[in-house]
Amino acid sequence: MAAPMVERGEDAFRTLFKFYRRKHPPPDLSNVLDFSKGIVCDKVLSTNLEVSAVSDGEASRAGLRPVRDWRAFGLQGCPGFIFIANPFLRGSQPHWLRRCLKTYTQKPNVCNLDMHMSPNETDDIWGKSADTLRRAPCGKKEPKTLLEKLRWVTLGYHYNWNTKTYSAEHHTPFPADLQRLSGLVAAAAGFPSFNAEAGILNYYRSDSSLGIHVDESELDLSRPLLSFCFGQSAIFLLGGPRREDPPTAMYMHSGDVMVMSGQSRLLYHAVPRILQDPPPPCGLGTSLSRGQGSPERGVSGEGGVDGEEGGVGGEDWAVCSRYIQSSRVNMTVRQVLGPGQSFPGVPKGSAPDAEGGGEGGGQKRRRSSSGGTESSDT
Ligand code: OGA
Ligand code: MN
Repeated sequence: MAAPMVERGEDAFRTLFKFYRRKHPPPDLSNVLDFSKGIVCDKVLSTNLEVSAVSDGEASRAGLRPVRDWRAFGLQGCPGFIFIANPFLRGSQPHWLRRCLKTYTQKPNVCNLDMHMSPNETDDIWGKSADTLRRAPCGKKEPKTLLEKLRWVTLGYHYNWNTKTYSAEHHTPFPADLQRLSGLVAAAAGFPSFNAEAGILNYYRSDSSLGIHVDESELDLSRPLLSFCFGQSAIFLLGGPRREDPPTAMYMHSGDVMVMSGQSRLLYHAVPRILQDPPPPCGLGTSLSRGQGSPERGVSGEGGVDGEEGGVGGEDWAVCSRYIQSSRVNMTVRQVLGPGQSFPGVPKGSAPDAEGGGEGGGQKRRRSSSGGTESSDT
């Protein structure tokens, strides 16, 4: 069944969200834009980046190709939206994926499991999950590992899902390597003074989705929002400034990066569906391979990123690759405060919400403190 024709005003976004989320029958994906295939229709524009803002050495140390080699696109009607089709060097995605699973899940970062488990129990999510994940499936249904129950991690200024605010009190150091990566991408997109201060990492299982929302809790909305994807591909819906504006559907493949800035910083968006390989892995075995001996890699050995000798090794890769077979990880990085800005003295309550109700709509983010990305089995 082809994507339904929906008119503005009848909650076109909600209709398309449900269409792409549907399991039976599976939706027709022929209208989904695929930037990895280049310019596919007249809605897609080619976008120029600030090629000289990032040196090749800086890019390589963060696992990125030279900016002149990145393929960046825009969308008609969405000024400030930049889609960068996988700018990562071959072999460097495993590094970032392992950071998301092994490092950023550690304290003092905050995750959904902390909401209903003791600090001891959530102390070493990777360590407590690795052996089980590494083992081949034995047929019988095993209890889910902590990694498989993980839905979100927050970094830096920790987003409060209940009040929808950040605060000065709830802050821990933002990971320096992710700050560098974000700074480089932002500079290439024309924001040389971007300062990564908050991260929300989303961990999607194959049946997860992320409801229709706008990210407007950051105090300086003139700064871009960056989004990095690893693992299974997803359908991303980018709508307009009003909740009911009809969205454009696009694939996000492993390694793809999105910048939402300018007028597009406040557009409604959602992730209705995680896709499952095959068709040929958007990442696995190609862009998400370890890149052993990859001639593209060169600089710091096999898939290495700055400060790392020799890339993601066998044991860790066994866990990462197993996890990612049925999962997607997305890192969103935000600057919360403008230069010289500080939090208002009294924390604000919930920001005014958009229109209420309905599947995939109503809430800013259809996620709860305990639930993370929505999953039909939770
Ligand atoms: C978010 C978000 C998109 C994604 O976390 O605000 O929109 O692709 N994530 O996971
Ligand atoms: Mn968002």
